[in-house]
Amino acid sequence: MGAAGVQRAAIVTGGASGIGRSTVELLVERGYGVVAVDLTTDNFGWVPEGAPVVPMAGDVTDEGVNSAMVAACMERFGRLDVSVLNAGIPGSGSLETLDMAVLDRCYQLNVRAVALGIRAAIAPMRSVGGGSIVVTASTAGLGGEKGRWPYNTTKAAVLNLVRSASIDLALDRIRVNAICPGPVRSGMTDKHLGTDVGEGLRRMIPMQRWGDPDEVAAAIVFLASPEASFITGVALPVDGGVSAGNGHSLPPQGEGVRG
Ligand SMILES: NC(=O)c1ccc[n+]([C@@H]2O[C@H](COP(=O)([O-])OP(=O)(O)OC[C@H]3O[C@@H](n4cnc5c(N)ncnc54)[C@H](O)[C@@H]3O)[C@@H](O)[C@H]2O)c1
Repeated sequence: MGAAGVQRAAIVTGGASGIGRSTVELLVERGYGVVAVDLTTDNFGWVPEGAPVVPMAGDVTDEGVNSAMVAACMERFGRLDVSVLNAGIPGSGSLETLDMAVLDRCYQLNVRAVALGIRAAIAPMRSVGGGSIVVTASTAGLGGEKGRWPYNTTKAAVLNLVRSASIDLALDRIRVNAICPGPVRSGMTDKHLGTDVGEGLRRMIPMQRWGDPDEVAAAIVFLASPEASFITGVALPVDGGVSAGNGHSLPPQGEGVRG
């Protein structure tokens, strides 16, 4: 048993909401201590009293925040086994006229911050004989979409960062994988639910429903766990079948029900 009574410890970025929050909750259920990083600590009211969760405020595009979240994990739990680099932002607009600052912001968080997070995790994971890094990419990284080029571009880039890192870190026994969620209910997508956009997206999903954050968290925690010991460098879609299609036709239409 390590410091603070946990056997394994993890970091989750973007941990206050949506997929990050569900991942923190599932990791705690599986016995992990978790440092959960988000822009503020205001949205961590859901963390149960006494849970082995350290809410931390920080912008992960800042290299110092990446060092600080690792230091917080080492200080509170004495080790770092898993890093879930999940914080991300959308970006969209006209290719002709959109302010290029939108692309820069997407790059800073969706790609560069992930590189910083991987870099910060290497030494502490090495010190415990290995570890697992899981990056939240997107089905948006697997192909293009109308008007979403900053998001599509940066989510595609992070997939190749994951592949490259998995090769570089394989002999350190640090596995690096990505998940590619399709449309999932979260803080990022709430505004689409119940709208024509949301319904249009639903109709394109073979399972004919939006995903829930806990369904993505389950895939993240699987990739993070020793059960995935021979899996590295993959991009796992968690998307109700979206990436199975070639986009030439709508899937059979109906009401998808979570089973
Ligand atoms: N929801 C979806 O449909 C969907 C689909 C594919 C991929 N994703 C990806 O899932 C990840 C999580 O998003 P979500 O859907 O749970 O959204 P969300 O908005 O509910 O959660 C994202 C969290 O990240 C935090 N965050 C944003 N910028 C940050 C920064 N610079 N530093 C630290 N924290 C920051 C936000 O405050 C928020 O709490 C993102 O990488 C997103 O691109 C989401």
